[in-house]
Amino acid sequence: MAAATPSVESAGNRARSSAALDFLKAGPKKLLIGGKWVAAKSGKTFETLNPATEEVLGLVGEGDKADVDEAVKAARKAFEEGQWSKIGPHQRARYLFKIADLIEQHADELAELETLDNGKAKTQALAIDVAGAAETFRYYGGWCSKIYGETNPSDPSMFNYTLREPVGVCGQIIPWNFPLLMASWKLGPALACGNTVILKPAEQTPITALRLGELILEAELPDGVVNIITGFGPGAGSSISEHPDIDKVAFTGSAEVGKIILKASAGNLKRVSLELGGKSPNIIFPDADLEQAVPGSMMGVFFNSGQVCCAGTRIFVQKEVYEKFNEQLTKFSAGMTMGDGLDPKTMMGPLVSKEQFDKVKGYLELGKKEGARVTVGGEAGSGKGYFVKPTVFADVNNNMRIAREEIFGPVAATIPFKDENDAVLQGNDTTYGLAAAVWTRDVGRAHKVARALKAGTVWVNCYNMLDPISPFGGYKQSGFGRELGRHALELYTNIKSVYVKL
Ligand code: NAI
Ligand code: MG
Repeated sequence: MAAATPSVESAGNRARSSAALDFLKAGPKKLLIGGKWVAAKSGKTFETLNPATEEVLGLVGEGDKADVDEAVKAARKAFEEGQWSKIGPHQRARYLFKIADLIEQHADELAELETLDNGKAKTQALAIDVAGAAETFRYYGGWCSKIYGETNPSDPSMFNYTLREPVGVCGQIIPWNFPLLMASWKLGPALACGNTVILKPAEQTPITALRLGELILEAELPDGVVNIITGFGPGAGSSISEHPDIDKVAFTGSAEVGKIILKASAGNLKRVSLELGGKSPNIIFPDADLEQAVPGSMMGVFFNSGQVCCAGTRIFVQKEVYEKFNEQLTKFSAGMTMGDGLDPKTMMGPLVSKEQFDKVKGYLELGKKEGARVTVGGEAGSGKGYFVKPTVFADVNNNMRIAREEIFGPVAATIPFKDENDAVLQGNDTTYGLAAAVWTRDVGRAHKVARALKAGTVWVNCYNMLDPISPFGGYKQSGFGRELGRHALELYTNIKSVYVKL
């Protein structure tokens, strides 16, 4: 997967995808259960909107408990019958490679669907979301044949070895900020390890997961291996986390819902992995190369309109360069092109929903009330669509609510610090611990600070770099478990120890 700092490619100049329009026009979307598209048992549907225009993009099946029950039956049957869990590793790999190929063949269409449903810039959807999803499936396809057990140094009268086996039926609940990419982070490792899945996309952005479901059928995965239930949190989501026959639940979203899921999973002691929010510190030392640090920090917080769990929302700048950094950040931020994601010039699209728009606007007011200084932005766009201008609050104190609570919008807070120790203390003074960054030319300081920061990912002289080769996840209330890398295999396997008497 590429860096999240967008490489604006020519793809955004292409005409609107007719394939995307055909998919949307094909009528209300259904649920994928046992290899078939079926309407929700209740017959209910809900609308998904284009956040740039507030127009209805399409109708989607509203799954609930009855549908989740059916999906679990299908996933259980597929798992126990072994057409997926017990096939050879090379064969399973081929299915994942095929999914990756199909995503690439339909890249333009998928990027366009993502832009229409989520609002993000299509150039970024193509370069980050779609390319990253294909890469993730391909990366985990490679792991199918490398999931090793161990032989252990047992007593000579015994032979002991371990097997890594799939966990079983997995429920996967994902958010709306990177809909297709999050689906790939969840499905890739689960499928590579031989599990079967019930995936629940976010209600704001169900479209690309459904198109991915069609591609998964085209790749001829056995029926019931991947089931997709669209619907709301209470209903479809809670039925997954409470279900007695789901063995594992993986969730990405708010810390608030993460706690609800953890409690709900206690019923049958599901294994749980949680990737929750963040309030990540991004630390700028005076010896940093500001030509890199300013635009890097800007994209670190404004990428995807700030709707990124690891966004660098608290920018700590050492006093000596504080004013200079703020001036440059303000200048760069004022130059960001905000608009419809389909426009190739757009660097920042709208927020995903009215709910998110209202939440972020509330924080703009709160920041002003708390006494922070707006250097750029500070208000919503006018007219249709959920647009909020890139906003920088200067003179922020780490105790203000805008420095403590996850805003999930294009809102940066710059906070001055005294010295290295002060930067680390303030940086770690948060309930979250998803990511952090440090900008300096002093190599010793870079590594020292990287060690001192309590975060699952630390970037040095860059921001938002993500690649399936490396684990991603949180310290503290940013959750537990590691996705991506070989570590995700631990989430989706059980270890069995076998003793053989010789
Ligand atoms: P959310 O946590 O409510 O939604 C994420 C997913 O969980 C969706 O698929 C939703 O349908 C599902 N869900 C909601 N309630 C559930 C329940 N009781 N049981 C099972 N599943 C449930 O997030 P929301 O409301 O969309 O956004 C609120 C805030 O959460 C954002 O403003 C942001 O701060 C944070 N967030 C963090 C994300 C991350 O990547 N860590 C992603 C999305 C939101
Ligand atoms: Mg919610």
